[in-house]
Amino acid sequence: MATSFKNYIGGQWQDAADNATFVDTNPARSADVIGRFPLSGERDVDAAVRAAQEAFVTWRRMPAPQRGDYLKRIGDLLTERKDAIAFEMTREMGKTFTETKGDVQEAIDTAYYAASETRRLFGHTVPSELPNKFNMSIRRPVGVIGVITAWNFPVAVPTWKMFPAIAAGNTVVFKPSEDAPHSGMLLVQVFVDAGLPVGVVNLVQGAGATGAAIVNHPGVDAVSFTGSTQTGARIAEVCGRTHKRVSLEMGGKNPQIVLADADLDLALEGVLWGAFGTTGQRCTATSRLILHEAIHDTLVDRLITAAGRLKLGYGNEPGVQVGPLINQKAFDKVSSYMDVARSEGVRIACGGKRAMGAGLDMGYFFEPTVFTGVTPNMRVAQEEIFGPVLSVLKASSYEEAVAIANNTEYGLSSSIYTKDVTIAFRAIEDIEAGITYINGPTIGAEAHMPFGGVKHTGNGHREGGWEVFDFYTETKSVYIDYSGKLQKAQIDNQ
Ligand code: UN1
Repeated sequence: MATSFKNYIGGQWQDAADNATFVDTNPARSADVIGRFPLSGERDVDAAVRAAQEAFVTWRRMPAPQRGDYLKRIGDLLTERKDAIAFEMTREMGKTFTETKGDVQEAIDTAYYAASETRRLFGHTVPSELPNKFNMSIRRPVGVIGVITAWNFPVAVPTWKMFPAIAAGNTVVFKPSEDAPHSGMLLVQVFVDAGLPVGVVNLVQGAGATGAAIVNHPGVDAVSFTGSTQTGARIAEVCGRTHKRVSLEMGGKNPQIVLADADLDLALEGVLWGAFGTTGQRCTATSRLILHEAIHDTLVDRLITAAGRLKLGYGNEPGVQVGPLINQKAFDKVSSYMDVARSEGVRIACGGKRAMGAGLDMGYFFEPTVFTGVTPNMRVAQEEIFGPVLSVLKASSYEEAVAIANNTEYGLSSSIYTKDVTIAFRAIEDIEAGITYINGPTIGAEAHMPFGGVKHTGNGHREGGWEVFDFYTETKSVYIDYSGKLQKAQIDNQ
């Protein structure tokens, strides 16, 4: 019998109204059942939204630094439970224990950062046009925020959204991915144990229809989503029609450029981590390696050898470097790109098939794969594969490398390896992306820096850093007239 888990709505752990459930399993050991979770519907979402609306009345009035104290306690509890939560995360979604610990650390950093920002939720004061009048702007929370997240950063990414949201006085309805419901539940358990007031965060487990119910609910004031570009586009349509604020973090096809003068050891280490860390299942994963022709063959040779040596396995076992894909659908999608590559005349220089070996038949393991001879308009250079698959392209100059890097509908992360400071600064301006790393891989965002992408990756908002507070607050302009008479701005001053 699988353990049964519940939703958390208005301070109560409860089943879905119609008792529907879904089962979650370990992607590295398919016989290992994590548990059974509520498959929530409209009634559950409605109850969660009502609970969030009720909590909003008092939460928004609490002095912001007091809200920050809850976030500090949450950060402390996450620190205490880091290893235990990380173990369960690895069991549920497959990336290695070192990486899931990093995921929890990112949440801890975000908690303390958001807590500190509660003392800095500033507005502006500016001079008035008129005498004896005072002008300022203040921030007000938006209301109930629908938080819909992916499974690959099952603790960090939900906290990027929820911590600034609640710091600013909003309340939340949170739907984790159906591939990481247990991690979402463990995170919410931390909120409960930290004493977060009832209704401030409500957990509604489920799949796509559950997310749609959140987006469609008239009581939800804003939606923050991380996931596929297709789903993000549908969410944006609904939010457009219903006048909801929406922040979207979607796909990527992130390039790493390596120029002829680069430190090749560093570039190799970077691309191995960027392309195959999290089994390539990050929105920031390196999926295109753009090499200057002078170092192309050398680096490709070294890359193939190194990729072939990566140790695959269950991420909670020591020494494992690459975990499984998340599920059968992901496995089928990644496999299908091997046929796409063949039909495009690309060379599968290493990998390209299900990984074999002791214990690997129990999960969705795919060999780290490198495609060479890729040209910029091929599907394998354009489409997000979301797996351990890297396309290598060749360029004969900095200009050509950047043109290739920018030849994509996406624009999340990017990287360039060079020792030339002039080129590095040009690249910062030339590359069309929300994030550019100089001499570092495309992954590794920090909690207090803005995170987000241009083009089809995002819709103009940023998570992380200070800018996220702009999303979770509305500005109010305030005029205080202490002249004791009617003053008429433009009319008096014309
Ligand atoms: C994601 O893949 O959705 O910079 C987020 C990084 C991580 C976050 C990735 N800190 O790769």
